[in-house]
Amino acid sequence: MSAGKVTGKFLETLAGTRFATPPVWLMRQAGRYLPEYHVVRATTRSFLEFCYTPAKAVEVTLQPIRRFGLDAAIIFSDILVIPDALGQKVWYAEGEGPKLEALTDPAEFGRLSRARLPEHLAPVYEAIRQARAALPKETALLGFAGAPFTLACYMIEGGGSRDFAKTKGWAYSHPDSFALLIDLLVDAIVDHLTYQIEAGADAVQLFDSCAGVLPEEQLFGWSLEPMVRIAHALRSRHPKIPIIAFPRAVGPATLMYRRPDAFTVLSIDTGIGAHWAAQELQPHICIQGNLDPLMLVAGGVALEREATRILDKLGHGSFVFNLGHGVVPQTPPENVAQLVEIVRNWKPSTS
Ligand code: CP3
Repeated sequence: MSAGKVTGKFLETLAGTRFATPPVWLMRQAGRYLPEYHVVRATTRSFLEFCYTPAKAVEVTLQPIRRFGLDAAIIFSDILVIPDALGQKVWYAEGEGPKLEALTDPAEFGRLSRARLPEHLAPVYEAIRQARAALPKETALLGFAGAPFTLACYMIEGGGSRDFAKTKGWAYSHPDSFALLIDLLVDAIVDHLTYQIEAGADAVQLFDSCAGVLPEEQLFGWSLEPMVRIAHALRSRHPKIPIIAFPRAVGPATLMYRRPDAFTVLSIDTGIGAHWAAQELQPHICIQGNLDPLMLVAGGVALEREATRILDKLGHGSFVFNLGHGVVPQTPPENVAQLVEIVRNWKPSTS
């Protein structure tokens, strides 16, 4: 059961309360930029096994909260646990990122099955239960999943890619069979997020990190529409659950994602102007973002100036301070502390 009462700055902001300064958390806040993460990471060779060991996943989820007192924690896991649970081979090659046994033929979908998902991903739900119990009650706990298009990209390419040409080739030449894969992923993601909510996640985020490779016409069908279907299915089961959509690098097509019927928050990447977002998006939906992760690496006056500029543009409306993409491994942890200070000490101008 998720906690009934909305408490804490993050959840209250999403429910419409305005505070003097916005809540703040960071995508990929648990990870390799923290020395204490490496200590825990070094105890398990396989990254997936690490994700599937609740005590370790909980520990690294809590690390950035202890250090920085952020307003939300995100459960430590990965978007590729879904292909793994569906029966596709997934592994993480040292220094090369994730690898998958690429899908090359629609006939191979037959080997993928949702039946094993609840049992296979039970350690993730157990980690959520334990993390929720360990966190201060005012700190929200986020669950997450990759969006269908982004998962399809990794499943068809067999890993990351510059242009995702194989995936786009499949979607453009064989839209009917690509739709079967998207539909399977919609169902699997609804299952995975529902179990996360029932284990205690207070909100969920859908990462469509690869959406930006699609032209606008295709974005509607392969990115937005499946994400809306997921959101509607979640809301029919859990009407109050906040849902954050992160369609990365889609530029002005972000306008399509202003869908308060489906999403509670629209997370914007670094390429979106804060001023444009304040005018075009924020009147319709709560905004999250959009500091460049490399500003967090730079720190100092550059970080102060840029974070304050974003706060001045978006801090007067419904807003969650975050990055435009994940924290990178070379980030000095003290810069994260500096950023939290900047956000919490921000003074809204009256002009
Ligand atoms: O945000 C958090 O702190 C929670 C944990 C989290 C991870 N991955 C941990 C992780 C989240 C939310 C993700 C999401 C994720 N994973 C995305 C979507 C967001 C984005 O960044 O675009 C994607 C595309 C993936 C797939 C993935 N997993 C990649 C591309 C990599 C390698 C990336 C790299 O930086 O080398 C991973 C592995 C991974 N996932 C690591 C972490 C901390 C590093 C692996 C390690 O510690 O050995």
